[in-house]
Amino acid sequence: SNEWIDVVDPDVVRAEGLAGVYVAGRDIALFAVGDEIFATDNRCPHGEARLTDGFLLDDEIECPLHQGRFSVRTGMAMCAPVTGCIRTYPVKIENARILLQLE
Ligand code: FES
Repeated sequence: SNEWIDVVDPDVVRAEGLAGVYVAGRDIALFAVGDEIFATDNRCPHGEARLTDGFLLDDEIECPLHQGRFSVRTGMAMCAPVTGCIRTYPVKIENARILLQLE
């Protein structure tokens, strides 16, 4: 479905720059870059680490286990040992809430 799911106040994400949230049974990573919010899967495909336990460097998230990096904008792997991409999700902000489309 194209349903928008209400997730969280964007200030919760902006406070630390990133936040992991469980939505509809999925572990989703939210990232604040400037005024924008991005959403991706929160599991590193290399070794199942939780990306929001890592470090956000501008618009790239560095995995806490082996320092692979993904663009939070596109989901693309940016350096070894990660390859390919992680899934990203459409985000909009309305009435001080982050809404996500998960399908
Ligand atoms: Fe993420 Fe290895 S588990 S880089």
